[in-house]
Amino acid sequence: MQAIRKAVIPVAGLGTRFLPATKAIPKEMLTIVDRPTIQYIVEEVVASGIEEVILITSEGKSAIENHFDYDFQLDTVLKEKNKVELSEELTNISNLIDIVSVRQKKPLGLGHAIWMARNVIGNEPFLVLLGDDLVMSDVPCCKQMIDLYKDVGESIVAVQRVPMNETYQYGIVEGEAIEKERTFKVNRMVEKPAPGTSNSDMAIIGRYLLMPEVFDLLGKTTPGHGGEIQLTDALLALSNLRGMYAYEFEGKRYDAGDKLGYLKAIVDFSLQHSTLGEPFRKHLESICNGCGI
Ligand code: UTP
Repeated sequence: MQAIRKAVIPVAGLGTRFLPATKAIPKEMLTIVDRPTIQYIVEEVVASGIEEVILITSEGKSAIENHFDYDFQLDTVLKEKNKVELSEELTNISNLIDIVSVRQKKPLGLGHAIWMARNVIGNEPFLVLLGDDLVMSDVPCCKQMIDLYKDVGESIVAVQRVPMNETYQYGIVEGEAIEKERTFKVNRMVEKPAPGTSNSDMAIIGRYLLMPEVFDLLGKTTPGHGGEIQLTDALLALSNLRGMYAYEFEGKRYDAGDKLGYLKAIVDFSLQHSTLGEPFRKHLESICNGCGI
């Protein structure tokens, strides 16, 4: 079985749901407590044992590449001012992992963004993490998926249960439970189903472990929902070709590309922060009158 060594992180979307904040700043660079969203995602990849990240970027997203680069001028100034800890922290970020960037010249959809990584990935299974999807968990979500892959040896999509009246907002998976805990064999997938057209509440979140055959399938996929090349269409074809599993990961997922999801992430990640957590909890308690946070 081939090891999972590479992770694709598409960050080339327009971020229209978060305008005007995202007019000049990539949504992946919006801050959750003290780090941009994208740093949490790259840290999850690193903690899962991945060796290389492929960022799918676009015009206006260079701040993301710069964030993970080494800034010689800034580092020199920090050292001159004897700000040793800050200098070390920034150097550590630039040393986190090897990053390759590929440009998606037009925002033709998530499926197209992933297809752009085909030459860098080659013929091996790989991970995909959406650049605005955060998961808070004890074991990194990608690590959970890699562990499952070692047993099932096929593609895996991470899923979460959502209320039935919200399924139309997600890619929905239908499948049947197998012997392994939290794991389902995928039978059908449908992108944003109209009410009443699917009885499943398993929604795909922004973590995928995919077999390289997906690239050929993406190359043949015609524009679907919203005129974009949808990843879900190619995933359905891949599940018919080789089989696929849905995995109900352990943890909590936040859509940080959505204003409300972003606010929830800030509150929950702040409460977990090593130094800010306690004073922030006190503040919340003071404004919500002993609501038991
Ligand atoms: P989203 O569905 O969040 O789309 O994409 P978006 O365009 O970024 O944001 P909204 O909906 O306009 O607010 C999910 C992920 O796929 C990437 C995005 O950057 C995000 O990480 N993506 C999407 C691309 O890289 N290219 C695309 O053409 C579309």
